Amino acid sequence: MAHLTDKIILITGAAGAVGSAVAAGVREQGGIAIATDLAGADLDLDVTAEADWQRVVDDVAATHGHLDGLVNAAGIVALGSIENLDFATWRRVLSINLDGTFLGCKYAFPLLKPRGGSVVNLSSVSALVGGHNLAAYNASKGGVSLLTKSVALLGARSRPPIRCNAVCPSFLEGPMVDDIAKSARDPAAAMDKMSAGIPLGRMGKPSEVAALCLYLLSDEAAFITGADLPIDGGLTAR
Ligand SMILES: NC(=O)c1ccc[n+]([C@@H]2O[C@H](COP(=O)([O-])OP(=O)(O)OC[C@H]3O[C@@H](n4cnc5c(N)ncnc54)[C@H](O)[C@@H]3O)[C@@H](O)[C@H]2O)c1
Repeated sequence: MAHLTDKIILITGAAGAVGSAVAAGVREQGGIAIATDLAGADLDLDVTAEADWQRVVDDVAATHGHLDGLVNAAGIVALGSIENLDFATWRRVLSINLDGTFLGCKYAFPLLKPRGGSVVNLSSVSALVGGHNLAAYNASKGGVSLLTKSVALLGARSRPPIRCNAVCPSFLEGPMVDDIAKSARDPAAAMDKMSAGIPLGRMGKPSEVAALCLYLLSDEAAFITGADLPIDGGLTAR
């Protein structure tokens, strides 16, 4: 059981399925969640906008003085192969998923340095295995997973250390997968197909991913850094 008493955790994409579950879990475990999203959270933050990051870290510095954790959960998916994906969509996916994670790590780092801390990046099984129609998503999440290792190695030089890990979920219940299914000719069949591809025979729950994030944020995970942790019902086991 992770304990986050008094830990100050900044969360992006916190109006979404995973981010909101992480924010709720942080609060349940006695921590202070600073929930951010485009709208509908404690603070407005577009992860692609450097000026937004500056405003938010200035706000956190003035209110709390430091951070103990960051969860980069903002993200989007767009279906498309290199043949049919337009460049604007490619750039939008890379911008939110990869640039946004870069900016989050970059701007949170100075606030994590004084006391050490933990960064959790929402990557995906799409960082580990490809899909013919996931060109931008695959590239963005592959980038997130390797960026995570770079941040982990930098953070390992800090005293106290800053850890950084990536979690790699397969399909989860929630709006992201609902939107993918809606774009299929037969949404119900598409949902069944996605579940059937997972050895445990079901989609994951945002709360299950949040539980892993909470563990990684906690001191119980003090020796885990630079890891890509699949949480995928066995999808990448074969
Ligand atoms: N849902 C899945 O099946 C699944 C699987 C693997 C990985 N992931 C990853 O987990 C993370 C969370 O996914 P989710 O299921 O909670 O998705 P979600 O769609 O429920 O939530 C994503 C949130 O990101 C926010 N967002 C989008 N663009 C933003 C921007 N520019 N700035 C700030 N916020 C922005 C949205 O407003 C939304 O609230 C994402 O990075 C996603 O790629 C999800």
